[in-house]
Amino acid sequence: MLSAGPERCPFDSWDSSWRLRGLAVVEFARRRGVATALLKSVIVRSHAKGARALWGMTRIAAVPVHTRLGFETIGTQYEVPPAGPHCSTFVRLTDELVSSLSDRQEAANGARRSDGRRRA
Ligand SMILES: CC(C)(COP(=O)(O)OP(=O)(O)OC[C@H]1O[C@@H](n2cnc3c(N)ncnc32)[C@H](O)[C@@H]1OP(=O)(O)O)[C@@H](O)C(=O)NCCC(=O)NCCS
Repeated sequence: MLSAGPERCPFDSWDSSWRLRGLAVVEFARRRGVATALLKSVIVRSHAKGARALWGMTRIAAVPVHTRLGFETIGTQYEVPPAGPHCSTFVRLTDELVSSLSDRQEAANGARRSDGRRRA
């Protein structure tokens, strides 16, 4: 699961920012790209609804999933009790970023469709 909605970013003057909250994947489904797919989907959908940046308070363990998609870390690590160490993350939703993710999604969908045809 992952939720996102408009909320002004505390470390940027950008006024069309959305905040990410509650990224979590059930244990048995982890390390298969589910969180990455959720984040990509939020990037594309929030941009379509007018968001121009995304930010969040991210658990340290989840930072690599974010940075691989273009997020940067802001400032230093801090504690959020009882969850543990976090880092703020931020990405500007440029047209280039969004179209590169949409293209990759289209390519993945195309590969799945042709797999289906081969099996049929
Ligand atoms: C953090 C969390 C959301 C990640 O979810 P996930 O679905 O496992 O994330 P992904 O699969 O997209 O990526 C996780 C790792 O799996 C790897 N991975 C992705 N697809 C893979 C595949 N098919 N085979 C092997 N590894 C894969 C990724 O490269 C990534 O590696 P890294 O951790 O070394 O960077 C999940 O572990 C979780 O719910 N944790 C508890 C709650 C939490 O910490 N939430 C974050 C709050 S900000």
